[in-house]
Amino acid sequence: MASMRMQGPRPSVAAALAAAGKILVDPDNRTNGQSDPRDRRPVLHICLTCRPAGAAPDAPNDPAAGSRFHDAVLSRLRDRDLESSVRVNPISCMANCEQGCSAALSAPGKWSYIAGFLDAGLADDVIDYALVYAASRTGVVMPSKRAPSLRDAIVARVPAHPDDIPEQRDSA
Ligand code: FES
Repeated sequence: MASMRMQGPRPSVAAALAAAGKILVDPDNRTNGQSDPRDRRPVLHICLTCRPAGAAPDAPNDPAAGSRFHDAVLSRLRDRDLESSVRVNPISCMANCEQGCSAALSAPGKWSYIAGFLDAGLADDVIDYALVYAASRTGVVMPSKRAPSLRDAIVARVPAHPDDIPEQRDSA
């Protein structure tokens, strides 16, 4: 497993991504930092350093598969005029390295979900999932409400902080 770094990319990486127009959130106002508590939009955390299990290392200048997935999501959000609907938080490793490209969905007061086995070709399906997640009161999205490509992609879920919204104890 790659080293665990439960934080955003280094400032230089974040700055480079922002300069390239690849970050939709202010790197100085990150999800894990001082974000606006009134912002209830879902956050799609995408691991930039993921590589499919068993895949040969990319060439030195090739972006990792996770980075390509991240870029595809940003591109499709722009193409679909959904940039203001889903926040994207590029990160480095969610300790899910054995399960392909990884991403997580979270929002205040809702269950958070970690997904694996993603790739750039699934960007639209993941965005659609984020939109359904946004509409769910608790964040629970039944497999039948996800694209078939994502039916088995969820590998774990994490409850909201218990002090956030009391009704989080509901199961759906
Ligand atoms: S590199 Fe570990 S979860 Fe992506």
